[in-house]
Amino acid sequence: MKVTIVGAGNVGATCANVVAHKELAEEVVLLDIKEGLAEGKALDIWETSPINLFDSRMTGATNDYAASADSDVVVITSGLPRKPGMSRDDLIATNAGIVKSVTKSVIEHSPNAVVIIVSNPLDVMCYCAYLTAKIDSSRVFGMAGILDTARYRAFLATELNVSPKDIQAVLMGGHGDTMVPLPRYTTVAGIPVTEMIDEATLNGIVDRTKKGGGEIVNLLGTSAWYAPGAAAAQMVESIVRNQHRIFPCCAWLEGQYGQDNIYLGVPAKLGKSGIEEIIELKLNEGEQELLSNSATAVREVMGVLDGMELA
Ligand code: NAI
Ligand code: 2OP
Repeated sequence: MKVTIVGAGNVGATCANVVAHKELAEEVVLLDIKEGLAEGKALDIWETSPINLFDSRMTGATNDYAASADSDVVVITSGLPRKPGMSRDDLIATNAGIVKSVTKSVIEHSPNAVVIIVSNPLDVMCYCAYLTAKIDSSRVFGMAGILDTARYRAFLATELNVSPKDIQAVLMGGHGDTMVPLPRYTTVAGIPVTEMIDEATLNGIVDRTKKGGGEIVNLLGTSAWYAPGAAAAQMVESIVRNQHRIFPCCAWLEGQYGQDNIYLGVPAKLGKSGIEEIIELKLNEGEQELLSNSATAVREVMGVLDGMELA
């Protein structure tokens, strides 16, 4: 297996480190536009191999997509992260151009790859990559839901003083303030979370989850990378090991949940060919309305992309 990660910044390098450490691929390639950055980080990660005991071979390259040729999976993290006061949507002007040019080069060299988008604004960057790649939507999708549910699960684990391993949850919608955590589908070792926590505390955790990205930006002055990098690597793992795991993924919808021609976070099964199935939950009226509001917010930013003239 060969996995390429484009963007050797905070998220990309963290993802590459997890992919190598878990030996998810024989070859791991890091690519960046900044001279020497990917080579340096790839070498640094490789130098952990005698300590962390892995055999994945690391290569770094500056803007040379030949190094990524015939990758099985490509993770695209290239693009600006947000700064305090910015929303993810503010990044579209710069990141759309980056994602378009990177996707073009990726597909030229790895026409059969499964492509995972991480760059923000996530849902619309998936749309941008899909329009550019011109491959089946089962092979172009985005990472956000694993991160957002991980935040939700971590906050619940702290509040309930239980292991995060025991918390299962579903979260849907766009990767923004309109995301839809679903308490009705949240359990603690199989017990509905609503039996373990009062409504006001749960609502507070849902609200904190929606603002979870901003919480880190305010603390660090840039966006998160440990959890996002690990989350992207978890998607890579389900693909390269053909695990058929179900994760919230940013997937292209064609009628599911009453939504057409839009990338939105939904539960999906991931295997060696990418998205194998989109799971359709029986949402109640309130949940469906929240999802529709989230789709409306994503469509507004899609409109901005549609109106842009990208080289
Ligand atoms: P970063 O600034 O640390 O790294 C971005 C890297 O992309 C830089 O090294 C830069 O040189 C590189 N880059 C820029 N243009 C490029 C091009 N044309 N080709 C190749 N490389 C290029 O940023 P960070 O923190 O790694 O975030 C990356 C992106 O991921 C941001 O857009 C951020 O908003 C997004 N993000 C998304 C998350 C999600 O849940 N989907 C979570 C966290 C971040
Ligand atoms: C996050 O949620 C910025 O999208 C990134 O941390």
